[in-house]
Amino acid sequence: MIRKIGVLTSGGDAPGMNCAIRAVVRAGLKYGLDVYGIMDGYKGLVEDDMFLMDRHSVSDIVNRGGTILGTARLREFKEEKVRQIAVDNLRKRGIEALVVIGGDGSYMGAKKLTEMGINCVGLPGTIDNDIASTDYTIGFDTCLNTICYCIDHIRDTTSSHQRCAIIEVMGNHCGDLALFSGLAEGVEMIITPDHPIPEEEIIDSLRKLHDAKRKRAIVVVSEKIYPNINEFAKKITVETGFEAKAEVLGRVQRGGTPSAFDRILAARMGAYAVDCLLEGKGGICVGMVDNKIVDDDIYQAVPRPRDKHPSMLRLIDILK
Ligand code: F6P
Repeated sequence: MIRKIGVLTSGGDAPGMNCAIRAVVRAGLKYGLDVYGIMDGYKGLVEDDMFLMDRHSVSDIVNRGGTILGTARLREFKEEKVRQIAVDNLRKRGIEALVVIGGDGSYMGAKKLTEMGINCVGLPGTIDNDIASTDYTIGFDTCLNTICYCIDHIRDTTSSHQRCAIIEVMGNHCGDLALFSGLAEGVEMIITPDHPIPEEEIIDSLRKLHDAKRKRAIVVVSEKIYPNINEFAKKITVETGFEAKAEVLGRVQRGGTPSAFDRILAARMGAYAVDCLLEGKGGICVGMVDNKIVDDDIYQAVPRPRDKHPSMLRLIDILK
C-alpha cells in the first residue's frame, strides 16, 4: 500500500481549490498517509519545493479563494527531461502518488507522470467548466455568481444612462460562463463559441431595440470572440443609436469566497481522489456526473467534446 502522496494546484486558480486541498489532506491523514503540499504546481515538483502537511495546514481555508499552494503554468513540463527531474524529486522523498487539481492542460502532465511511475489523479479545478468528464468543475459556480453580481451592478448604471453594455466574461474556449450568466440575468443577447451571432445581426437587433425605445441593452460575450471588444462597442455606438460600453470583467471573476456548492463539490472529489490512489489507480480524472462522483481515463476524457447544453441554448430564443 502507498504511504506518501502529494497534492498540487496547477493552471488558472479557481475558488474551491483550497477546499479540495483540505479534503485531500484530511482524507489522506485519516488513512494514515503522509501528505505533501507541492508549491506552485508542477514548478514546485521540478524545483523540489514541497512540505509535509498536517491537519492544521488546512485549517480555516475553506472560505478562502485562490490556492494556498500557489499555482503556475509550466510549459516546459511537456518535456520528458523536465518531468524526469520532478519524478526524481518525488522518489527522493518516497512520494508515490499525486493529486493534481487543475484544468485539462494540467491533466496531461498528470497522465505523463503516471506513465513514468507516479500514479496521478486529476481533479477539475477551473472556472471554465470546459472538462467533458464532469458536469461541473470546481470554481465554476462561484465564478458564475460573481459574474451575475457584476452584471447586476452594470445593469443599474446601464439603465440609468440608457446605454448598451457589452460584457465580456472568461471561459477560455468554453461558452458556459457566458451562457449560464446570460440566462441567469435574462440579457438581450448571449454570444458564445456554441452560439455565435453574425455581427450584422447583432447590430440590426440592437438598432431595432433602440428604435423601439428600449431603455438599455445588455449583451454577454465569451472572451476570445472579439479581438478588440472596445472597437466592437464603438461600432455599435455608431450604428445602433445606443451608446455602447465594453466591460471586460477580467480576473475579478476568478477570485473570492467559494460558494457552498463549490466547497462541497471539492470536498467530495478530494476525498474520492484519495480513495482512488489507495486503490492503486492512476492516469484518471475525477468528475461529478448526475450528482455521482466518478472517474475516467484522462486520455479518454480530455479530447471528448464538452456537452453544448442544447436545452439551455434553446432557452435563449424562447425567453428573449
Ligand atoms: O482557465 C482559467 C482562465 O481564467 C480562462 O478563463 C482565461 O482564458 C485564462 O485562465 C486567463 O489566464 P491568465 O490569468 O493566466 O491570463
